[in-house]
Amino acid sequence: MSVNKEIKKVTTHTLQKMKLSAEKISMITAYDFSFARIFDQAGVDVILVGDSASNVMAGHETTLPITLDQMIYHGSSVVRAVNRCLVVVDMPFGSYQSNSDIALASAIRIMKETGAHSIKLEGGEEEIEAVKKIVRAGIPVMGHLGLTPQSIYKFGTYTVRAKEEAEANKLKQDASLLQEAGCFAIVLEKIPAALATEVSNSLSIPTIGIGAGSGCDGQVLVMHDMLGINTEFKPRFLRQYLDIEKQATGAVQQYIKDVKAGDFPNISEQY
Ligand code: KIV
Repeated sequence: MSVNKEIKKVTTHTLQKMKLSAEKISMITAYDFSFARIFDQAGVDVILVGDSASNVMAGHETTLPITLDQMIYHGSSVVRAVNRCLVVVDMPFGSYQSNSDIALASAIRIMKETGAHSIKLEGGEEEIEAVKKIVRAGIPVMGHLGLTPQSIYKFGTYTVRAKEEAEANKLKQDASLLQEAGCFAIVLEKIPAALATEVSNSLSIPTIGIGAGSGCDGQVLVMHDMLGINTEFKPRFLRQYLDIEKQATGAVQQYIKDVKAGDFPNISEQY
């Protein structure tokens, strides 16, 4: 297994060094203590407490409804489980877009109340003032460009972004602005692989891709998708490593059978 055992705690500096030495960065989402414990012990570099919690934990259609309080609940549960990896907590929709003072106040709440190591927010030029203010307060910021799910009603669909030249040029410009503003890394979601490679090569900070090809400095997947907990979502970029839905269904069906048959608990399973 290729976990770098020399790294005792992953920091934003570790990620920077990984980019320089061309070691790929592994990132996965988590929203609760138990899975975060497993992922941290498995050796993942970064856990993202994504606002995808709105979809996969709460069952909403989009990421828009999740609140700052709910993100703080998920973030603090994850942080309690972690020894090695860097924890990034997503700033939810509405907690930073209106002005940079509100953005800073939201970021401070996340850092104080979760114990996380950094925050992530979506957007480029429009959010530069917020990014600068948060970074100035000493809080590491991860950017997020390409398909930004908090803007789904502006885009209208979840299809690949920045296929056209104008949008690709804006993305390149946004990436460089985010780097200048002090971001320590940028997520590139669902954009053409060639564009992601070009952006990754042009930046000194690492990029973490999801549906953005192999030229990024790292990769991120949503845990429910890669573990097969949510098997309805099967985009082309997803590699599914387990089929928990199938295995859990089988296990629970067996349990129901055992209970109905009076076979559980047996003599050794009681006091
Ligand atoms: O919320 C999330 O899970 C994310 C990833 C898809 C990058 O932002």
